[in-house]
Amino acid sequence: MSQLYYPNKNKFQNSPIPDMESYRALVAKFDKDFEGTWAEFAKEKIDWFKPFDRVLDESEAPFYKWFSGGVMNVAHQCIDRHLATKKNKAAIIFEGDNGDKRTLTYQELANEVNKTANMFKNEFGITKGDRVVIYMPMIPEAAIVMLACAKIGAIHSVVFGGFSAEALRDRVIDAQAKLVVTADGAFRKGKPYMLKPVVDEALKEGCDSVEKVCVIARNNEDINWVDGRDVSYEELLAKQSLVCEAEPMESEDPLFLLYTSGSTGKPKGVQHSSAGYILWAQMTMEWVFDIKDNDTFWCTADVGWITGHTYIVYGPLAAGATTVMFEGVPTYPDAGRCWRMVEEYKINQFYTAPTAIRLLHKMGEDEPKKYDLSSLRVLGTVGEPIDPAAWKWYYEVVGNSECSIVDTYWQTETGGHVISPIAAATPIKPACATLPLPGIYAEVIEEDGTPTPVGEKGYMCITKPWPSMIRTIWGDPERFKKSYFGDCKKDGKPVYFSGDGAMVDEDGYITITGRTDDVINVSGHRLGTAELEAAIKKHPDIAAVAVVGMPHDIKGEGIFAYIVPKSEDIAPKEELQKAINELIKKEIGAIALTDEIAIVPDLPKTRSGKIMRRILRSIVKGEPITQDTSTLEDPSIVPTIEGIVGKRA
Ligand code: WTA
Repeated sequence: MSQLYYPNKNKFQNSPIPDMESYRALVAKFDKDFEGTWAEFAKEKIDWFKPFDRVLDESEAPFYKWFSGGVMNVAHQCIDRHLATKKNKAAIIFEGDNGDKRTLTYQELANEVNKTANMFKNEFGITKGDRVVIYMPMIPEAAIVMLACAKIGAIHSVVFGGFSAEALRDRVIDAQAKLVVTADGAFRKGKPYMLKPVVDEALKEGCDSVEKVCVIARNNEDINWVDGRDVSYEELLAKQSLVCEAEPMESEDPLFLLYTSGSTGKPKGVQHSSAGYILWAQMTMEWVFDIKDNDTFWCTADVGWITGHTYIVYGPLAAGATTVMFEGVPTYPDAGRCWRMVEEYKINQFYTAPTAIRLLHKMGEDEPKKYDLSSLRVLGTVGEPIDPAAWKWYYEVVGNSECSIVDTYWQTETGGHVISPIAAATPIKPACATLPLPGIYAEVIEEDGTPTPVGEKGYMCITKPWPSMIRTIWGDPERFKKSYFGDCKKDGKPVYFSGDGAMVDEDGYITITGRTDDVINVSGHRLGTAELEAAIKKHPDIAAVAVVGMPHDIKGEGIFAYIVPKSEDIAPKEELQKAINELIKKEIGAIALTDEIAIVPDLPKTRSGKIMRRILRSIVKGEPITQDTSTLEDPSIVPTIEGIVGKRA
């Protein structure tokens, strides 16, 4: 049994869920009156323009509807409603790569958002329901533009700035975006890098829906300008009024799309709602992070991912908190960057990914000790399983054994945390996501809904709907049903399956064991093997390819590609890998480069032609092959590949 770490009571006062007794009472309350309890929170937390008249509508399950009849606006919830009491409070504290600083109070944020919203509405004709693609660096304008969309009811789709022109193009076309908002570029590790040229390249083909490209100046490098299409954000902003009425939004009106990788096909446009999403974003800020009025909250994610949406922008602002936004990288100018910022801004909650923790640990084991980190109360991790060594360093060295570590498990599709310690309450086991949050029925089950026995791996499912859940896949409701409600049932009814495996221990604590599908989690970024393989197959000399995840010290998982050449006349391995990585960079982006490749004569296939990926995964891990290979078309291929890969067994 692993050791339990109890919250340090001195650090937590007046917390909404102060102890396990309160946690259990709240869980019981949801058990007893599921809809009534959600209704209570929705009434208390959201500033409704018109109250909802129904809590949960299951008539078209799994297309669940929450808080029907209710009218509200997410930008109003995040900004306007706070102005009466905190207009001069810092909403966003920004620090750039070069150390440049900027603070926006709630009033200043309101003004910027309103001007931007007016620009979108009056200059570009953006109205409720139009899609706006945001391809931006980590500057306050990214948040301002998101909130401006919310203010007028436009649906934003933020595309991570590391994605390539091709990837951006696919997302623009799928969403049929009318407007693209970008920046000239930004700074990374002291040097400028560019974004606008990527947008130019993306829009070369098939993006007829795009009418305007709105360009924000960040690094002031030279850029190409398309007359009639490209407009300067700063020039137009100066002319806009500070007043903008919030568009009345139905609870279920979409707030945003965020594309994420699945096991097959193209990335899916995960669609989120307005009321349910913001409710849970705000509640998890309060419960999990114990956010308090005087706190300074820092999430190091990029706004291009769900973590940046929910825990840099929407959650902290809905909670009326101060959120820190950081343009740079944690290791520049040195491995003390984050700790210096914690000391300087007196950060209370620090939220990052295991990859960053592993890297910071490796690069500066004793670095945190040089700074005063006593303001920290909660340390969060997200995106991938954290290993016990990284956890221990985070807890002991960064947190001085006094902070709660919240290992938050969730997904783009869940909108906010679903399994996580509650900072003030939950006794923690290292590297364990612990318990489902109250209201979330997260269960480890078999396909038929029976609970998986303690200590065994099962499917990580959520067996009741929850307010911040994915509503559909943009433009593809059938894929939504099939992707999430096709695998597991409980009491004969399809339930949400996350794609992850998990294990429950004797105390009911849940440990996430990782994806069960063909999704690789590289540095906490989800990448579908199908997308990677499609990119690699564009190489003219490659006949077949299979991509699997491989263990990686820093990234968690790395990318390993098995390549079958068309003929023996193939470039040497290093050269081929370089060419493959060029293709991936062009099709997806630099986050998806292969770490290793192997040139093999064939792949292990069943007689019906199905590639046995589990065998390929076992080979790169150096694990013994436990699968039955006698059903393979050519069983001798397995030892041949093992010989070529020659791994670590
Ligand atoms: C993984 C990120 C273990 C998981 C918020 C999930 C985790 C995928 C954890 C979602 C965690 C996220 N422990 N694994 N605490 N948090 N994951 O959509 O495989 O980018 O399905 O959302 O990350 O990644 P996504």
